[in-house]
Amino acid sequence: MLTAAILTVSDTRSAGTREDTTTALMAEILEGIEIEIVATRLVPDEQDEIAAAIVELCDGATLVLTSGGTGLAPRDVTPEATRSVIDREAPGIAEAMRAETAQFQRLAWLSRAVAGTRGRTLVINLPGNPKAVRECLGVLMPMLPHALKLVSGDDDGGGGHGGAGG
Ligand code: MTE
Repeated sequence: MLTAAILTVSDTRSAGTREDTTTALMAEILEGIEIEIVATRLVPDEQDEIAAAIVELCDGATLVLTSGGTGLAPRDVTPEATRSVIDREAPGIAEAMRAETAQFQRLAWLSRAVAGTRGRTLVINLPGNPKAVRECLGVLMPMLPHALKLVSGDDDGGGGHGGAGG
């Protein structure tokens, strides 16, 4: 079974002054497409803490999904933390989320979310708003199972990308 870890980035939610609803939301959506949630973490908008949490979570999961801290506010540093720990960027994933959801929510362009691989794990930033999480996961869902098989090296050559030949 494909495995995922969820990292929620929020000053207010990690301090307990606002209720964290996005962790459960992301878990529910991923479990709906048969991806097992193996860990969840909640950290404040601190670049070092975010980077350390991503590294730790990559150890046991094929997908690390973060939410929050992708905007333009001074404390939004999730993209910088993510870039500091990924080996290869996958810009198409982040651009697809922005472009497709911007068709009905122009503010989607304000998210600086990035995606990329660290070893055999795919790391994807989502915005923090629960509505944005839902919308962005709607875009990602059709590509996630195949993307995760490729990243984990568990690809059987199917899925329409040309197989192992050539
Ligand atoms: N993307 C979608 N699909 N839907 C949204 O409502 N909100 C935007 C944007 N991306 C939004 C979205 C807003 S208002 C902001 S500020 C940025 O994501 C960054 O949010 P974050 O700092 O919580 O990550």
